Amino acid sequence: MSPEPASGQLTPDDVVLRESTPDDTLVLDTFSSHEVRSEHDYYDDDDLGDGHRGASRSGSRVISDAAGAVLGRVTFHQVAYGPNRRSLAWRIGVTVLPEHRGRGVGARAQRILADELFATTDAWRVEADTEVDNVAERRALLAAGFREEGVLRGARWRAGARRDAVMFSRTRSDA
Ligand SMILES: CC(C)(COP(=O)(O)OP(=O)(O)OC[C@H]1O[C@@H](n2cnc3c(N)ncnc32)[C@H](O)[C@@H]1OP(=O)(O)O)[C@@H](O)C(=O)NCCC(=O)NCCS
Repeated sequence: MSPEPASGQLTPDDVVLRESTPDDTLVLDTFSSHEVRSEHDYYDDDDLGDGHRGASRSGSRVISDAAGAVLGRVTFHQVAYGPNRRSLAWRIGVTVLPEHRGRGVGARAQRILADELFATTDAWRVEADTEVDNVAERRALLAAGFREEGVLRGARWRAGARRDAVMFSRTRSDA
């Protein structure tokens, strides 16, 4: 049961942010408790025993044809949605050489990479983001079995301007 919310109106001066001091130690030590963290932010010992401690794996693969010629490249790295290993997802990226675009290479490569990440790790989620007007990548991701999730406002900075991105994912439970 959560305690009742505190009541009373705040004035603008009632909440400030400051550095912690040694005098805060007793209170800060309670921040790992279930009571303080509450349901949505509490990880028990089993969860934390499997922690990633900020370690992030990454890698890349060449996209090639059957004869070994380079068609492009895919990349992948882990992003953390929580402190434990099961809260890690894979974020992937892709570049197809200009002369090989529009033949299904990008879609195929991203499908294969997601399949491989699901097969070789226990990750639940593979995700990819792209700028909202990157129609080719949006369509390639859909063709690779990803689902569109929503807009990440101003997430990217490129060519002197903020760009909205759109997030896609495939999860282990997707058909
Ligand atoms: C985005 C990219 C990876 C797509 O790879 P690709 O091999 O050209 O794409 P595919 O041939 O697999 O096409 C996938 C879909 O996109 C469509 N598409 C491809 N190029 C397109 C274009 N220029 N405009 C609109 N749609 C396009 C295809 O028709 C296909 O749609 P469909 O599934 O409805 O038939 C490739 O264009 C690329 O490397 N672009 C530059 C780098 C980049 O933008 N990377 C992603 C950064 S987040």
